[in-house]
Amino acid sequence: MIGKIVEKAVNEQVKKEEHSSRLYLAMASWAEQHGYPGAADWLYVQTEEERIHMLKLVHYINDRGGKAIIPALEAPAGTYKTLLDIFQQVLKHEEFISASINELYAVCIKEKDYTTANYLQWYITEQIEEESTVRSILDQISLAGTHQGGLFMMDKELAAKAKAKRAAAVQGGGANAVT
Ligand SMILES: [Fe+2]
Ligand SMILES: [Fe+2]
Repeated sequence: MIGKIVEKAVNEQVKKEEHSSRLYLAMASWAEQHGYPGAADWLYVQTEEERIHMLKLVHYINDRGGKAIIPALEAPAGTYKTLLDIFQQVLKHEEFISASINELYAVCIKEKDYTTANYLQWYITEQIEEESTVRSILDQISLAGTHQGGLFMMDKELAAKAKAKRAAAVQGGGANAVT
């Protein structure tokens, strides 16, 4: 049985993962409207992944005898200046999520809920990967600057990354599969 303090803290993370999904959806839509189909596809994949992150936590709370709370939806910011602006915001958001998962982990340890702490290890590892992927994309977009050819190539690369991620998710049942 999950304790009330940990249950509340995990429910807050449910809300943050759901918001991440909506944030990336707004960004994907912007990229689609502004001639970056590859970036849009990559962001659409991220939207799906964040929703899975949210669902895993919902199931986890309920499996432990708690009560998952489905949060009210918040509107994400919908206006972005450039592709660089978008990925800078993605990185900032992922860093915020990493910090939030670390805090959640600390709550579990304080409450001696080692089961939840153990479950959160998956999220901790996932955040390392997410931050590192976004940093490398950001480096490449920064290098391209305002050079249209560079940005065009970057968009193609993002399309390939999105395709590879989808294929990996299907093949493995997905490291991100909802269990
Ligand atoms: Fe996430
Ligand atoms: Fe994420």
